[in-house]
Amino acid sequence: MKKRVLTGDRPTGPLHLGHYVGTIINRVKLQKEYETFIIIADVQALTTNFEHPELLKNDVFQVAVDNLACGVDPNISSIFIQSMIPEIAELTVYYSMLVSVNLLSHNPTIKTEAKQYNFEKSMPYGFLGYPVSQAADITFCKANLVPVGEDQLPHIELTRKIVRKFNQLYGEVLVEPEPLLSHMPRLPGLDGGAKMSKSLGNCIYLGDSKEVVEKKIKRAVTDPKRIHPTDLGHPEVCTVFTYHKAFNQNDYLEIEHSCREGKIGCVACKEKLISVINQFLEPIRERRKYYEERKKEVMEILYEGTKKAKKIAEETLEEVRAAIKIDYFK
Ligand code: TRP
Ligand code: SF4
Repeated sequence: MKKRVLTGDRPTGPLHLGHYVGTIINRVKLQKEYETFIIIADVQALTTNFEHPELLKNDVFQVAVDNLACGVDPNISSIFIQSMIPEIAELTVYYSMLVSVNLLSHNPTIKTEAKQYNFEKSMPYGFLGYPVSQAADITFCKANLVPVGEDQLPHIELTRKIVRKFNQLYGEVLVEPEPLLSHMPRLPGLDGGAKMSKSLGNCIYLGDSKEVVEKKIKRAVTDPKRIHPTDLGHPEVCTVFTYHKAFNQNDYLEIEHSCREGKIGCVACKEKLISVINQFLEPIRERRKYYEERKKEVMEILYEGTKKAKKIAEETLEEVRAAIKIDYFK
């Protein structure tokens, strides 16, 4: 039997280059070797967007389109919608007994996000607990491998803790997953901020047009110490260089060298990057367009993926309920 991959996205808007280099690249690479499940975590999106449920439908569609456009193949991978699998919610409740509030509140990703969403004073219970729900996302299908960006590592660690505790208390039912990082586990924002993030408004989206990409890269932050093109540069502090490293594997070493020697100016360096990113995005834009115009086909893909995931969830939940003695009428 093939090993399983599970990973996915929170549908709070279209996906960006950070998603691509952090996780999507590995989904596409591994899908032939692993049985692959891609979750569109709409309930998790509600933990921050609960005031705007009307946005969900389109965001779910956009995230599906992004995955398909990047090369997730619906004939071999299953893309599914979290909320349509109530077994995940049930599993979340069982897991919530195995985790302390104290542990959850020390999760560094939760802390960072709580700041972004102004949840520090009053933290929704569902938001604090979404990593528990994420553990259910990962384990209902007994996933072995979870391709993620660096920010997700605390959640995978929590998942592993829950699995160990469950298995120890109730018997070996669950599988302990491993995280998988890419060559660029965290992509900084255009503003030089730690991370490309929709809520910080510092992203290049997979669907951005040529002109938008150009405009965004032109105003991206570089080495602040460089004023003239001949000044010796420090690529290690430059966001534009990090993007070269992520997307321009052929030339980034030469760019690094030229920057340090003051042999390339930031304007020229950005022009190169604009061309690299636009070349990378062009086929994705085309496939995006294809799927955006075929809403019915995309919804069919989600329906089939959800059906397949649901069947597996039902099987796992039978085992889970038996293990925790919730099987009265058997
Ligand atoms: N938390 C992830 C993100 O914000 C999305 C996600 C939900 C996820 N469930 C998952 C990722 C399960 C990996 C596995 O991007
Ligand atoms: Fe960054 Fe390129 Fe300018 Fe060097 S030349 S500081 S890598 S933009």
